[in-house]
Amino acid sequence: LDKNNSNVASEDYIMESDENLSHEKHGPVWAWNEWDPLEEVIVGNVNGATVPPFTVEVKANTYAKHWEFFRKHGGTSFPEGYLKKANAEIEEFCNILKHEGVEVKRPDNMDFSQVYQTPDFESCGMYAAMPRDILLVIGDEIIEAPMAWRSRFFEYRAYRSLIKEYFKGGAMWTTAPKPQMADELYDQVYPIRSVEDRHRLAANGQFVTTEFEPCFDAADFMRAGRDVFVQRSQVTNYMGIEWMRRHLEKKGIRLHTLSFKDPNPMHIDATFNIIGPGMVLSNPDRPCHQIEMFKNAGWDVIHPPNPLISDDHPLWMSSKWLSMNVLMLDPKRVIVQSTETSIRKLFESLGIECIPVNILHANSLGGGFHCWTCDIRRNGELESYL
Ligand code: NVA
Repeated sequence: LDKNNSNVASEDYIMESDENLSHEKHGPVWAWNEWDPLEEVIVGNVNGATVPPFTVEVKANTYAKHWEFFRKHGGTSFPEGYLKKANAEIEEFCNILKHEGVEVKRPDNMDFSQVYQTPDFESCGMYAAMPRDILLVIGDEIIEAPMAWRSRFFEYRAYRSLIKEYFKGGAMWTTAPKPQMADELYDQVYPIRSVEDRHRLAANGQFVTTEFEPCFDAADFMRAGRDVFVQRSQVTNYMGIEWMRRHLEKKGIRLHTLSFKDPNPMHIDATFNIIGPGMVLSNPDRPCHQIEMFKNAGWDVIHPPNPLISDDHPLWMSSKWLSMNVLMLDPKRVIVQSTETSIRKLFESLGIECIPVNILHANSLGGGFHCWTCDIRRNGELESYL
């Protein structure tokens, strides 16, 4: 809209403009942290969700009690009954977000069971359930993560319709270097048999991904304005971190590598979830080795209570700590699993209003509210919090 064009009635202009929405000021993609008021979000979908083949990188990221499940179902649909219930839960989650004033976008449907072959490997896909794993928004830029699992090589395709629209609207669009995912990217004899093995390997800084080439998942990053945090994990290697460090440095953003006492690091948002300016949920089972940096900066380091989800409920691809994998709608409102009453009480004691939603069956696919979403626009500016 040309403000100087005298043919444009000034009244129309005033009606169409809303200076308070960040879209008007910054375009369709704009988010610097995890808590500014949420205006638009992508929510994943269950359609076509396929159990990944049981490869070495999947084994290193899952728990022994589920290995039989992967051996049996790899390459076929997740159990239909679960998908149906997960789908209903996620639809309701979307309705609640809309009711709270958030614009909701969904990825395209794909057949993830389709087998693909590259010069380096063969696999089928997995799903488009967890946009947080693959997309990272920093300011007006949307970054497609390279990913580290072979079953996730083509996952970006489900988001391309949306990303092209954002690009047309003015957003910056970056894809990190695509890994070959040749055998050299993985430690083919990663010696994992027990929880003790996991602790020992993680403590020694030994991971299933090598340094053959950069790889990372977007969910290993946590944003707080001028400071972004990342962990070396089973899916994010040091070359991937270095690629992002150089990329973000150009925008004046400092990338800090954190580490945790975690036998199975993969995706930081059930370990260290920043929920407000100077406020972080820090998993008590996974102490952060650099926590003094936050305490010295005056941050509130909050240890969430133990998750309440029952041992019987299948979580094929995650720990129980999805309870702290919450989505902030703004600094005073949080979407939280309805059955997790302990963490709900914690939020209330902090003066944060809980919006309870039930996604227990969606949890079985490996994520909570933070994983199931990618915030595209939050209304706020780039600031320093550290
Ligand atoms: N892999 C981590 C994060 C999941 C969001 C876990 O299972 O706790």
